[in-house]
Amino acid sequence: MITRRNFIVQSTLAASALLSRGRHLDGEPGQGADPLPKRLAADPQRPQYHFLPKAHWVNDPNGPISWKGYYHLFYQYSSTIDPQGPKYWGHARSKDMVHWEHLPMALAPTPGGPDKDGCWSGSAFINDGVPTLVYTGVFPQVQCLATSDDDMATWKKADGNPVVGSPPDGPAVTGFRDPSIWREADSWLMTVGTGFQGRGGAVLLYSSKDMLHWDYLHPLCSGPPFGRRDSTFSGQYDAVDAGDMWECPDFFLLGQKHVLLVSTQGRVHSYVGTYADRKFQAESHGLIDGSEMYYAAKSFEDHQGRRILWGWVREARTAAAQNSAGWSGAISLPRVLSIGSDGALRMDPVAELASLRGRHYRIAEAEISGFLPLPHLQGNSLEIQLAMDLGEAKEGGISVRRSPDAEEETTISYEAATQNIVLATGRSSLSPGAGGATYRGAFKLGPGEPLRLTVFLDGSVVEVFANGRTCLTGRIYPTRSDSLGVGIFAQAGRARVEAFDAYEMKAISRDRLTT
Ligand code: FRU
Repeated sequence: MITRRNFIVQSTLAASALLSRGRHLDGEPGQGADPLPKRLAADPQRPQYHFLPKAHWVNDPNGPISWKGYYHLFYQYSSTIDPQGPKYWGHARSKDMVHWEHLPMALAPTPGGPDKDGCWSGSAFINDGVPTLVYTGVFPQVQCLATSDDDMATWKKADGNPVVGSPPDGPAVTGFRDPSIWREADSWLMTVGTGFQGRGGAVLLYSSKDMLHWDYLHPLCSGPPFGRRDSTFSGQYDAVDAGDMWECPDFFLLGQKHVLLVSTQGRVHSYVGTYADRKFQAESHGLIDGSEMYYAAKSFEDHQGRRILWGWVREARTAAAQNSAGWSGAISLPRVLSIGSDGALRMDPVAELASLRGRHYRIAEAEISGFLPLPHLQGNSLEIQLAMDLGEAKEGGISVRRSPDAEEETTISYEAATQNIVLATGRSSLSPGAGGATYRGAFKLGPGEPLRLTVFLDGSVVEVFANGRTCLTGRIYPTRSDSLGVGIFAQAGRARVEAFDAYEMKAISRDRLTT
């Protein structure tokens, strides 16, 4: 798995990778005789209905916003398959968050400018009718603005950049990036992600009257409220991995509560709490996804008042495999966030995804014990919904991407003993570089509550929603062309299938979004 670390390290920029605004990258699909688009369009691992750039690298979703009838999505893009590659803001728009139109790059590093080594993550907002982006220029990490006067077709960087040129005085910070801006009374407020070595992460709060001059107020929220874990990497200290750097803070009102999301330790942590005196007090903590394959989540409120969340779906396969594929990463399906009757965060796939449903497969209620193959249902582009009463069974769920002899198989299940939703990808692929793992999400069933799994399969991406409370995202790279089977199972006891519906999902483009 490629991990993204040591961002503070100064990267050197290959001159060829510099892009001036409006120009295309070398090797961009559609340019010259590059065979890459053909390869991508035929790649069974490349999703058919998740958002992707035309090719190459994507990481964080940036600045999602709805504006004049379109959803706009920006994203961290690099023309190299390299987590350390110089970052641009890719840009696409959509009428429904499902079908997309690629637009020219929104932001590119300006040689000699405060973003000369990359335009890192940030947000979009509308300032008195003017679309505005706020993002981090590197290196060093500073905050910059850009505006558009042609409905987001092109962007002009502010003459006053960087608008915040250094972190506040005080102890050295582990990072200073990923700004968000909103209006409160007669001020603009801005959050910036940061942290302190050995002391955990923090979100810094700034205020401004004109967006060009910013005063540091105080931390909106800070501290290591969750357990530290050892670095999973080479033993070298890494602030993000250690939980000492909170990336991509996302702060918003949801119902009667405020919510803060921060990305660190390979996870997106969520806090539900209260905002008073410009400070956030967390009251409960959760994870947006139980897997490390989902990261850098970013939300926005759409014109219908829905709070919608996007995330980066990372790769589990080796860097060599990503390089030879010619693309890396995907953007998750959009999730609608809400506060459940229990006060916890709820996540549901947006209703618009139902427009992709094709052929429908259903089975009547059934008692099962052991494995029930569903020979008439096959595919690598499916939405599957299962409602199951586990009864006495110790584990129950769905098997997907299964070869006829089960040599390759991926399972999604509820494990009663541990009260976990489990996404097992250890046998998903025969390829040694496929990085199979078991992902777990804590999940308690209420008394008499059936397990309700919604599973989206799309090439190498699997997204699981369990009762709207726990999500798991994984990557699988089956090698066999017949690893398409689906089944239902219950282990060590009988379970009752209350409903099972599956839909073949239509592709959102003819060429896996390479055009
Ligand atoms: C999160 C992140 C951000 C940074 C961006 C750079 O994945 O590290 O903190 O702005 O990616 O691409």
